[in-house]
Amino acid sequence: MRVIGIEKRRPLYFLLVGLLVYPVQALYGTEAQMPYVLELPTGFPKPKVPPDNALSIEKIALGRFLFYDRRLSGNQSQACASCHQQALAFTDGRARAVGSTGEVHPRSAMSLTNVAYATALGWANPLLDSLERQVLVPLFNERPVELGLTGKEEEAFDRLRTDLRYQRMFAEAFPDQRDPFTLGNVVKAIASFERTLISGNTPYDRYVQGLDDHALSEEAFFGGRLFFSERLECFHCHGGFNFTASVTHEGNPFDETSFQNNGLYNIDGRGSYPPDNTGLFEITHIPSDMGRFKAPTLRNLSYTAPYMHDGSIATLEEVIDHYAAGGRTIHSGPYAGDGSKNPYKSNFVRGFVLTEEEKQQLLAFLRSLDDPEFVTNPRFSDPFEPWACVADCNYDRTVTVDELVRAVGLALGISPLAVCLPADPSGEGDSTIDELLQGVQALLAGCQGTPGMTRP
Ligand code: HEC
Ligand code: HEC
Repeated sequence: MRVIGIEKRRPLYFLLVGLLVYPVQALYGTEAQMPYVLELPTGFPKPKVPPDNALSIEKIALGRFLFYDRRLSGNQSQACASCHQQALAFTDGRARAVGSTGEVHPRSAMSLTNVAYATALGWANPLLDSLERQVLVPLFNERPVELGLTGKEEEAFDRLRTDLRYQRMFAEAFPDQRDPFTLGNVVKAIASFERTLISGNTPYDRYVQGLDDHALSEEAFFGGRLFFSERLECFHCHGGFNFTASVTHEGNPFDETSFQNNGLYNIDGRGSYPPDNTGLFEITHIPSDMGRFKAPTLRNLSYTAPYMHDGSIATLEEVIDHYAAGGRTIHSGPYAGDGSKNPYKSNFVRGFVLTEEEKQQLLAFLRSLDDPEFVTNPRFSDPFEPWACVADCNYDRTVTVDELVRAVGLALGISPLAVCLPADPSGEGDSTIDELLQGVQALLAGCQGTPGMTRP
């Protein structure tokens, strides 16, 4: 479904262009970046991309490695992907995330579904307004420690610098730089990879876009009516193509981030939330901002339990019960209180009565927003895992002549590693004769598994 531009070109043309460009490159030392065109699901607007970090195939490939690389944490035990796992729509399955040194984060790891469209990153931080800025938080955060790189940046960069594959990939992604191993470049590459995490291949989307009239079950269809009704009000906060009000895209007249209190707590009867999770209040100190959080996307919910900023609701059934009651009542313990009476709660969370049948319909609708392709797409997967077969550039478990030509281009040094990572299973930054032979074998005899791959 997501096709990188290069795959549309003819192999011979590609080889010829490569041969022509190579001497020019050698003369001037410049290497053109291969622009990456996001292939968006029908009906999705174009995300905004900062002008100083245009998407390129090289940056995205590098960013993917960095996202999965534990060498980017202080004690080398964790990567972004430890808390943002693809199979869980890039969450971690925990109520609260746990950092590389064992510190517990007050909040739950968020899904990275369609994060390219977010106006503000995080549960309640209007100041984190770009993916580039956000990357620095897990890298350097000290309260709590996540990747724990503060004071250990140089060590980490030395680890990357000595890696042969990274030597090639950083140079490809950031040509013209004498030392491309910089924090700024790490940030740009990871943010570029994150922008490709687009999810929109769901029964709901196929139905609404007129691609398949039978994609949505009748149950889910009626659930959708409930979701978009003034009785349940869900759509006010979880509206639009990404089921969250906080989105931006190209051509959007003004960006809006909305933070809402949905009545999870009311500790002292005057609206308090637990002290480590006061929401927008933590930044603004405005009393009415107590307990206001970003309404997250409702895509891929089947993979992202438990729910809410602190993972305090285990199932979708309980989430619906929470809204039906107009807020949550906690009967005992330090956080006891009737959330439905929280004075800062949004007027849209009023409560409603659902029959059991209607509840099942609403659940079916929410599940129609699941995108199984997103959580299995090999392009988003861990690149340190062994490839199914050498030179299978598009990870479809077959090697074509096209792909082999690309591997040859890589071996000759005329095409970037980024266009065919599986052509270099050893991670030495190029395609050796041995690896080429494995590619030929995979072309003739099918995939045999990739020997030689080891995680650093
Ligand atoms: C220790 C676990 C952990 C690690 C490691 C981690 N994250 Fe997160 N991530 C979280 C948590 C928790 C949040 C919610 C933070 C908040 O708002 O309080 C989050 C939020 C985010 C968001 C905001 C998503 C949204 O919809 O607003 C992005 C983007 C993100 N992380 C990217 C990354 C990247 C990139 C890395 C690696 C550089 C990374 N994370 C490493 C736990 C983690
Ligand atoms: C007033 C705005 C508002 C309305 C109306 C609303 N929500 Fe929410 N929703 C939120 C906010 C804010 C959060 C996050 C709250 C938090 O973590 O403290 C949330 C969280 C959720 C979550 C958890 C998502 C996750 O990834 O953790 C689900 C599921 C959800 N809402 C479903 C619904 C449904 C279904 C309805 C309609 C019955 C609804 N919401 C109505 C604002 C709203």
